[in-house]
Amino acid sequence: MNITVKVWRQDGPEAEGRMVPYEVEDVSEHMSFLEMLDVLNERLTMRGEEPITFDHDCREGICGSCDLVIDGVPHGPQQTTTCQLHMRSFNDGDTIDVEPFRAGPFPIIKDLMVDRSALDRIIQAGGFISAPTGTAPDAHAAPVAKNDADHAFDAATCIGCGACVAVCPNGSSMLFTSAKVTHLGLLPQGQPERKSRVVNMLNQQDAEGFGGCTNIGDCTAVCPKGIPFETISRLNRDLLGSLARGGD
Ligand code: SF4
Ligand code: FES
Repeated sequence: MNITVKVWRQDGPEAEGRMVPYEVEDVSEHMSFLEMLDVLNERLTMRGEEPITFDHDCREGICGSCDLVIDGVPHGPQQTTTCQLHMRSFNDGDTIDVEPFRAGPFPIIKDLMVDRSALDRIIQAGGFISAPTGTAPDAHAAPVAKNDADHAFDAATCIGCGACVAVCPNGSSMLFTSAKVTHLGLLPQGQPERKSRVVNMLNQQDAEGFGGCTNIGDCTAVCPKGIPFETISRLNRDLLGSLARGGD
């Protein structure tokens, strides 16, 4: 395949950015999108040009760092991570726009790389449990209902990529925060901090500048882990419960 990629280039956080077109020839349909960028970067380096900065780590869909907006959609045309997106999703001759995740709380570091540490600070505000130290307890020491275990596991698959934020017109991180609240709130180990967790995480979400949820639903449509929209309802139920009981 021969394609053109128009890539957002920005020298630093305060620099002005612009879309720069690059012709990329002999692209294999089996390459991942990131491998295609690797090839482009090798060619840019050979030509003495500055390679494109983009974030990545596991390249297996589990770390959440490969945050690119491709043709206007976070992670591109498939509901997966950018590292799991393959060039067979595109056609010979295509022109593909590649931009960073855009949201106020995700400042651009360089080119396609943004700072998503605001999500880490939301987790630090409440995404933990208190547990006594010592040897690991037996797996069956604290029974968990199958339904709760399944929903907790589903919520725990959130990889913190931030696609839900990047697609939301409000720049809301509510799907992310609700996944963390739900994951711990459904398990016995998460009960001691349950009431304070939801309030503290939402306060931090506001402090970071994320917008509020107005039930648009784009977040769940681009979430690579399929976190369902109802997860936000679970957070709202926890919040109401916490406020009714006056929090911790
Ligand atoms: S809820 Fe989905 S889109 Fe949002 S951070 Fe988690 S995995 Fe990414
Ligand atoms: S590089 Fe880890 S999820 Fe894509």
